Amino acid sequence: MQDKVCLITGATSGIGRATAVELGRLGATLILVGRNQRQGSQVRDTIGQRAGRAPVEFLPADLSRQQDVRQLAATIARKYARLDVLINNAGAKFSRYEESADGIELTLATNHLGHFLLTLLLWETLQQAPAARVVTVSSGAHHGVSNEIQATWPAEAYNRKVAYSQSKLANVMFTYELARRLHGTQATANALDPGGVATNLGRNNGLLAWAKHLLFYTLKGQLLSPRQGADTVVYLASAPEVAGVSGQFFHQRKPTRSSPASYDEPASSRLWELSLQLAHLDSDPSRPGRGR
Ligand SMILES: NC(=O)c1ccc[n+]([C@@H]2O[C@H](COP(=O)([O-])OP(=O)(O)OC[C@H]3O[C@@H](n4cnc5c(N)ncnc54)[C@H](OP(=O)(O)O)[C@@H]3O)[C@@H](O)[C@H]2O)c1
Repeated sequence: MQDKVCLITGATSGIGRATAVELGRLGATLILVGRNQRQGSQVRDTIGQRAGRAPVEFLPADLSRQQDVRQLAATIARKYARLDVLINNAGAKFSRYEESADGIELTLATNHLGHFLLTLLLWETLQQAPAARVVTVSSGAHHGVSNEIQATWPAEAYNRKVAYSQSKLANVMFTYELARRLHGTQATANALDPGGVATNLGRNNGLLAWAKHLLFYTLKGQLLSPRQGADTVVYLASAPEVAGVSGQFFHQRKPTRSSPASYDEPASSRLWELSLQLAHLDSDPSRPGRGR
């Protein structure tokens, strides 16, 4: 990964942090993104020390805030001539209904829309790489929900599991639609399910909810360490075997079927249009010359 520039969102904890450590070990230049400056600086220094040489920088941004995402993309486009790997990893669950600063249900705003906007704003920077890879961390939780994604909810109807599942389905549908739009270029887009991983995911909702998640996978004998959870992310970001592979959903390094709903192309196209509107994007760089 020497000479490769990789951006990892949610690099301050869990799977994102472990991915950053491993890609740093492989010699990549790293851009770490997260909300917490102190944790971000710690991760940057740890990787810098371990890797010895690879340049690492931390850029603070809250992905649920479109203003932050726009500022982040502008900084990256100014500082880096190209981006080889974009890892859309940051994610969260919320037990109560909340809206982002832009008035969008917070799970969708964080897990899907921030990454949608970041990817489109970095389109030209990705196209400057010989064969850019966009890797999006979804979840097995994307199964079992309808593909009509909700951007707002009546607060009393909010269901945290459905909201999280919808956001993770949006990750897969976004990836498939992105791969279709990248067709004919050297760039690729893939999504993955990391499995059940011992991280801080859901800890913001209280210790009980968090412990239940960990216990569920522990009892099945399937709880992974962050490093194990990062394995397929690192594989998709770096392995020569997956050069040119695009529009796939991976689990344990293998392409696998995602939910039936995720393959609904008209629904993916509607999600793309909805996301353009919600992100207030005037032009769509994935459709050159065609605007909206
Ligand atoms: N753990 C699992 O079992 C599991 C299973 C399937 C899929 N996943 C997916 O794996 C990905 C990584 O999660 P994880 O398990 O590693 O959880 P984690 O330890 O909680 O890490 C999540 C990362 O995302 C960041 N983040 C959250 N909201 C953000 C925002 N608004 N703006 C910027 N960064 C934000 C967090 O930063 P802060 O510290 O600032 O919150 C943290 O760095 C998520 O997409 C999750 O859906 C996890």
